[in-house]
Amino acid sequence: MRTQIGIVGAGPAGLFLSLLLQRLGIESVVVELHTRKYVEERIRAGVLEQGTVDLMHELGVGERLKRQGLQHGGIELRFNGSGHRIDFRELTGDKCVTIYAQHEVIKDLIAARLAANQPIIFEAEDVSVHGLEGASPTIHFHANGATQELQCDFIAGCDGFHGICRTSVPAGAMQIYDRDYPFGWLGILAQVPPSSHELIYANHQRGFALLSMRSHKISRLYLQCEPDEDLALWPDERIWQELHQRLATKDGWKLTGGPIMQKGVTGMRSFVTEPMQFGKMFLAGDAAHIVPPTGAKGLNLAVADVRVLARALGEFYQSGKRELLHRYSEICLRRVWKVQRFSWWMTSMLHRFANDNPFDQRRQIAELDYVTSSRAASQTLAENYVGLPMD
Ligand code: APR
Ligand code: PHB
Repeated sequence: MRTQIGIVGAGPAGLFLSLLLQRLGIESVVVELHTRKYVEERIRAGVLEQGTVDLMHELGVGERLKRQGLQHGGIELRFNGSGHRIDFRELTGDKCVTIYAQHEVIKDLIAARLAANQPIIFEAEDVSVHGLEGASPTIHFHANGATQELQCDFIAGCDGFHGICRTSVPAGAMQIYDRDYPFGWLGILAQVPPSSHELIYANHQRGFALLSMRSHKISRLYLQCEPDEDLALWPDERIWQELHQRLATKDGWKLTGGPIMQKGVTGMRSFVTEPMQFGKMFLAGDAAHIVPPTGAKGLNLAVADVRVLARALGEFYQSGKRELLHRYSEICLRRVWKVQRFSWWMTSMLHRFANDNPFDQRRQIAELDYVTSSRAASQTLAENYVGLPMD
């Protein structure tokens, strides 16, 4: 088999890239480890920046998003028992974010790709990449009972943090920058209308809590917990009780509980690979970088990478110029580091750290007070949250 671009991974990075390339008339094959059902049902984040929403419309995959997405013009920061709204529309010239689950985005992208008769190979086993420094790199895998070799002009490593693309690069050719956080998030999906129209990020003595949603009928909530928290210790009543305490306000705001459909614990880390390219392989999305979820940037950052990559590949196939391809990593990393900074800052401002002393706690509250009372500071949060402009 032969194609122009071999894409490893059918997450947001791989699928958006495949559609962007299709629009430019560039051929690609997507090779995915899991089943279609698995990738379409995997619960992940759900906040889309305006740029991501616009791209879905440009690619002709925004019809369900338009009907089902919830536009949010702000968020609430809650601390010391009171809420403070950050008004995105007013602070950013009418920009907002849209709540639409990542697995719904995945369904829309897969449907569009298959409707155009473009290949996605699901359940590919033993995927490996070869000849990255040669003229024609290859992807090897087993599928449908046979061993396959896909020859490519370029490979896009879109296989997430645990994928094989990044780890196929020889030791020493890439530098890793990372930071672990001493906590995780216990997340639930509950069959109950959200108790607030907008997201609430709460700083509380007992730890961070977040109220989010998937629709008018489904709530998504998170609690700061141990990184290796044992879910067996968290029956539904305990989760709701803890959420009630952390989200409580002095004016008696009420959180409504309901049946919990799904629970899970996610670890938190910041991670960057530099450069994001080796030979003829380009890394994009979680394969190249991870942000902690505070601020909901993971998916949007993956989309920003593949926009740059598609533009660079488009230029190469149209004019033979390699300038943008050479600059891929440099262009992406400028945004990646700004988004790393923002996600780290939101995380630091909102969570309890085990070694915090009373000084740190007072400083954290002063920071929240400043962010919610100074226009300059609120605007800084707002412009990052709705998404920095594309280069
Ligand atoms: N071979 C082929 N596919 C693989 C392999 C492999 N060896 N390993 C992993 N994959 C697939 C995964 O099954 C997944 O479908 O690669 C895909 C990677 O998708 P994501 O992990 O979603 O990563 P990405 O597309 O970069 O999207 C980043 O999505 O899940 C969020 O937190 C993440 O929001 C961030 C965004
Ligand atoms: C979510 O709805 O899953 C979500 C929302 C906001 C975040 C992280 C996750 O910052």
